[in-house]
Amino acid sequence: MMKAAITGVHGYVPDYVLTNAELERMVDTNDEWITSRTGIKERHILKGEGMGSSHMGAEAVRGLLAKTNTAPEEIDLLICATVTPDYVFPATANLICDMVGIRNVGSFDIQAACSGFLYALTVGTQFIESGKYKKVIVVGADKMSAITDYTDRTTCVLFGDGAGAVLLEAAEPGLGILDSIIRSDGVGQYHLFQKAGGSRYPPSHETVEKRWHYVYQDGPSVFKFAVKNMADVSAEIMQRNHLDGGDVAWLVPHQANKRIIDATANRMGIGSDKVMLNIHKYGNTTAATIPLCLFDYESRLKKGDNLVLAAFGGGFTWAAVYVKWAY
Ligand SMILES: CC(C)(COP(=O)(O)OP(=O)(O)OC[C@H]1O[C@@H](n2cnc3c(N)ncnc32)[C@H](O)[C@@H]1OP(=O)(O)O)[C@@H](O)C(=O)NCCC(=O)NCCS
Repeated sequence: MMKAAITGVHGYVPDYVLTNAELERMVDTNDEWITSRTGIKERHILKGEGMGSSHMGAEAVRGLLAKTNTAPEEIDLLICATVTPDYVFPATANLICDMVGIRNVGSFDIQAACSGFLYALTVGTQFIESGKYKKVIVVGADKMSAITDYTDRTTCVLFGDGAGAVLLEAAEPGLGILDSIIRSDGVGQYHLFQKAGGSRYPPSHETVEKRWHYVYQDGPSVFKFAVKNMADVSAEIMQRNHLDGGDVAWLVPHQANKRIIDATANRMGIGSDKVMLNIHKYGNTTAATIPLCLFDYESRLKKGDNLVLAAFGGGFTWAAVYVKWAY
């Protein structure tokens, strides 16, 4: 069966850097607490009137098209994973296509919180494997600063803004995206969510006053589920592909908390030198963390490297993807 390969990756973060020192001036927190509990030192924030996730997604896609020498007309489909769409509708994927000049092809958003990129990658892969399309772009883009309450010290230190994009094409035999697992369980719905702004609680004076348009998180509960499920799904994908720790060149984990990443690597029998890590620079950029990791580490990847991509997020959702790097 034909497989899909990632044949290019590009990332984008906005210029403004929000440091732990600046957060210390905004809420009752300190660099030592943030660093030791999360691993985060700074995050990038998108400033500017009328700028949404599409702006960052389009920057990532523009860079991707340029570096892979791909014309917008060659793209058959674009999928965007995001929890911070510019609008409820139309889809952010539609807006990104418009901004970069991709026209008359399918484009849609996928929402699976912090697992969104791996869900979107899994969906995009199907169109290559079936032979329906030749070039598919998968984007993860989130402007988390738009739904972060900068008076709540338990969440505002965690999140940042960014985007990453990959190009999918048919793989050479033996390479590419070889397996994926996507899972969800609604048991998590009240532990990590944005209460208002959807159809259950549409925006009103009351929802704004109650600060229901921001991320609510019960951190310790999410932490427990994340550690267990991200490690379980990573171990499962390794087991069913007959991989042990020594076979894996890189763990590419969702960047929510360094302690969750360490626990996952431990369970997989992988040393910290094989774990992609950029949480210190960007914080949790939700759907963008994994493509931003691939972008930051691209020059260190070798054709044939075994990568395990793993994520966990609101819902709850969680996922793992096994990739044999194609270039
Ligand atoms: C949010 C998180 C970092 C909090 O770390 P934690 O070790 O669980 O800390 P707790 O929430 O138990 O809080 C411990 C103490 O630190 C305090 N605290 C919370 N945020 C703080 C901050 N920014 N600065 C200083 N103190 C803080 C708490 O109020 C609490 O104080 P108390 O003991 O006096 O009540 C952690 O729970 C986490 O990472 N959860 C999962 C997050 C995640 O993965 N989310 C996205 C999924 S995609």
